[in-house]
Parts: sequence; structure tokens; C-alpha cells
Amino acid sequence: MTTKEAAVTAIPTLTTKRLVLRPLDNADVPGFVEIWSDPEFTRYIGGRSDPDSVWHAMAGNIGCWALTGVGPWAVVERSTGSLVGRAGLWTEPGWPGVEAVWFIRRDRWGRGYAREAANAAIGWAFAQRPDLDEVVAVILPDNTASVRVAERLGMTPRRLEFIHGEDHAVYTISQADWSAALRGLPAVPAVPAQAG
Ligand SMILES: CC(C)(COP(=O)(O)OP(=O)(O)OC[C@H]1O[C@@H](n2cnc3c(N)ncnc32)[C@H](O)[C@@H]1OP(=O)(O)O)[C@@H](O)C(=O)NCCC(=O)NCCS
Repeated sequence: MTTKEAAVTAIPTLTTKRLVLRPLDNADVPGFVEIWSDPEFTRYIGGRSDPDSVWHAMAGNIGCWALTGVGPWAVVERSTGSLVGRAGLWTEPGWPGVEAVWFIRRDRWGRGYAREAANAAIGWAFAQRPDLDEVVAVILPDNTASVRVAERLGMTPRRLEFIHGEDHAVYTISQADWSAALRGLPAVPAVPAQAG
């Protein structure tokens, strides 16, 4: 195992129906630069798209894993092998909690990818941390696409918090509600009713 492989071993890889959530890699820099260069994509999230800033943001993402045990993954589309975004978890000192985060490149919007990735990340977080009361989402209220992702995940708006210089809506879902929603799903396919 290389030193680099050893360093990212602790970050798991999650596979969903259409996506792979895998550790960020140095080779992802050009892909993230391209994604973050789209002004429509960065409309509600700020952030700079020059390679230096993108690399430092990625280093912060890996650092989040190392310092807190949670963090964001690179999101790869299984059908094409393309890097289509970044999603997963985030927390930092003073943050409202463990946050679910989602960033999907514009030409893949509207396919349910953000929801699919976040669903896997939140499920992973609660499975790893039975002590974790809730997962939060921190969203600028005008970011309707992101608000909709939170709502579709079953999250509820709780309060406004002034974070990084702006009022953000804080959405939450408790571990109890997440588990209850999962229990509500049929464990096995329903047996069709017998005719006659
Ligand atoms: C927010 C974002 C991640 C959504 O990604 P996505 O993969 O298109 O989201 P999904 O396809 O999973 O959509 C989830 C729901 O949001 C809805 N939605 C998506 N874009 C929308 C929009 N612009 N306006 C209203 N609803 C929208 C979808 O229709 C879907 O709802 P439905 O299941 O009821 O149909 C994407 O727009 C993005 O990356 N934006 C830029 C980065 C960003 O702002 N991240 C969030 C920071 S808080």
C-alpha cells in the first residue's frame, strides 16, 4: 500500500444505485475546477474556482475526515465514470452539527443525484454514530434547489442562524425519525394479493 493509499484508507467508499461516493483524489482538481467555474453552480455557495483555491478546499475536506471522522466524498457517476460532484458530511467548530452537504455539476441537475448521494451519506453517518442525535443542512433560504433536496430527505426547517456572514436556514432530521422512515419501507417486496 502506498503512503497515499494508507492516508485515505479510513475514508470509506459508498456505492448507490447510480453513484459511487469515494475519497477525494489529487487527480480530481481539474474536474472540481471545471464544476466550480460555472457561475450558476456557485450562485448560492461562493467559493473560488482557481486550481489553488480548489486544491485547498479539497485539502480542507480531507482534513475534515481526519479531524472529525466525517467529511465529503467525490461523487462519481457509475454509468460513465465521470466526476459529477461532491457530497457527504461536514462539521467544523461552531457549526450547528454534522451537516449533510451536496454539490452536483449543472449538466447533471434534476436527476436525483443530490438526494441519492445525501441519502447514502446520512445513512452512513447514523449507522456509524448511534449517539448522533441529528444531521443538519445549512442552506441560504433562496437556494430553492437545495431546500427541495433537504425537504425530499425528510428534513425540517428549524431556525435561521447567522453563519459565515449570512442568515442560513438550518434543516434537521433526527436519527429517530430517519430510522422510523426506514422502518416504514417494506423490508421485502410486497406479495401481490391473490386474485379471486
Ligand atoms: C442543490 C443541488 C445539489 C441539487 O442537485 P440535484 O442533483 O439537481 O438535486 P435532485 O435531482 O436530487 O433534486 C432533489 C429535488 O429538488 C428539486 N430541484 C432540483 N433543482 C431544483 C430547482 N432549481 N428548483 C426547484 N426544485 C429543484 C428536484 O425536482 C427534486 O425534487 P422532486 O424529487 O420533488 O422532483 C444542485 O442544484 C447544486 O449542486 N447546486 C449548486 C451547489 C449548491 O447550491 N449546493 C447546495 C448548498 S446548500
